[in-house]
Amino acid sequence: MHKLVAMNGPRILLIIGGGIAAYKSCELVRLIRKHGGAVTCVLTKGGAQFVTPMTLAALSENPVHTSLWDLKNEVEMGHIQLSRQADLIVVCPATADLMAKMAHGIADDLATTLLLATDKPVMAVPAMNVRMWEHAATQANIATLRSRGVTVLNPDEGPMACGEFGAGRLPEPAIVMQAIERALAAGPLAGQPDFEVDPGHRPLYGKHVLVTAGPTHEPIDPVRYIANRSSGKQGFAIAAAAARAGARVTLVSGPVTLPTPPGVERIDVETAREMAAAVQQALPADCAVMVAAVADWRTEDYAPEKMKKRGSAPPALRLTENPDILASVAASDKRPRLVVGFAAETENVLEHATEKRKRKGADWIVANDVSGDVMGGDVNLVHIVSDKGVDHLPELPKDAVADALVERIADALNA
Ligand code: C5P
Repeated sequence: MHKLVAMNGPRILLIIGGGIAAYKSCELVRLIRKHGGAVTCVLTKGGAQFVTPMTLAALSENPVHTSLWDLKNEVEMGHIQLSRQADLIVVCPATADLMAKMAHGIADDLATTLLLATDKPVMAVPAMNVRMWEHAATQANIATLRSRGVTVLNPDEGPMACGEFGAGRLPEPAIVMQAIERALAAGPLAGQPDFEVDPGHRPLYGKHVLVTAGPTHEPIDPVRYIANRSSGKQGFAIAAAAARAGARVTLVSGPVTLPTPPGVERIDVETAREMAAAVQQALPADCAVMVAAVADWRTEDYAPEKMKKRGSAPPALRLTENPDILASVAASDKRPRLVVGFAAETENVLEHATEKRKRKGADWIVANDVSGDVMGGDVNLVHIVSDKGVDHLPELPKDAVADALVERIADALNA
């Protein structure tokens, strides 16, 4: 466990909005306290439909505030004071309604009044139905909040309590906890004694992990490109897992439609050559995990105007080879200590991976059996090929593959 060094740890004012994800705020209270912080909870009327003041009071060991019109509290502790004695205000879950009120300066209950009155950093952790999340009104409100300096985390993607699937799930409390630690480190408390890091809990703390993910798009003309079916899910999951393990993570991503995992610095690129340049720029790193499905070829002659159909003869595309990013990182004078490549194969998976490990100069190749429904899917079957042999993993969700790989990376870097 990591404990707080300072006697007076960070004080978090936790505002709990009304959504099914409110139950996760109980776990968040527990985590903040476990990390040495103090929590004061403010429960909205909606939030109180899902968790009780009693639960939060017991977990936080602090009074829970629910009403603006609680005169006793107004005398002993006005809402202004309540909003300012925290080091960070965390709204979790932040409903669409709560964020709309925040964006428009509406103050019609204790939570929204505190949010309008505060001069402290604010973080919102959204949770809502996918359609509500994607709605232009919500997105505009989020953009407004971000432009004013509010940290709005991206929700997770996945099945929802309402039966739909998509972006809108509340991130796991451990992820929110990490974001809180980062917000405190970047905020006015920067430089003060903060959380003491327990190497067992965050085994990649102090390490820089570079991840490539997604496909690359190689333009043929302004409207057409060469690409492949990579969704980026596995690479994003690895970047997220490395960040959860405490690493500083740079994620160089080709064109994908995935949210940036919390705590990850993302650089978007389109072509293999842009990806190669971004990777070079991101070095040095302790570990590089090259998951991107880089297009092997690009056209030799990019047509600056849209190519037209002419008669019956289709145009011939002359292709030229793209740089091999993995091989050049492995051969670089800034070579990370651990270079991990992926090998998507449909047959002779291990044989090809073993050969690829040698040819590209990688330490490990994660051999990826793509004969099934891996591309764009949520599960993956991998074998990790190293100089020590082959580590076979069972078929697992991509998140679990990421955790397993990151655990091995941490072991190797800390050995
Ligand atoms: O040769 P192949 O594409 O199968 O190799 C896969 C591995 O090499 C992956 O780790 C991929 O990210 C990396 N790669 C690369 N640059 C390329 C081609 C592949 O980094 N141009």
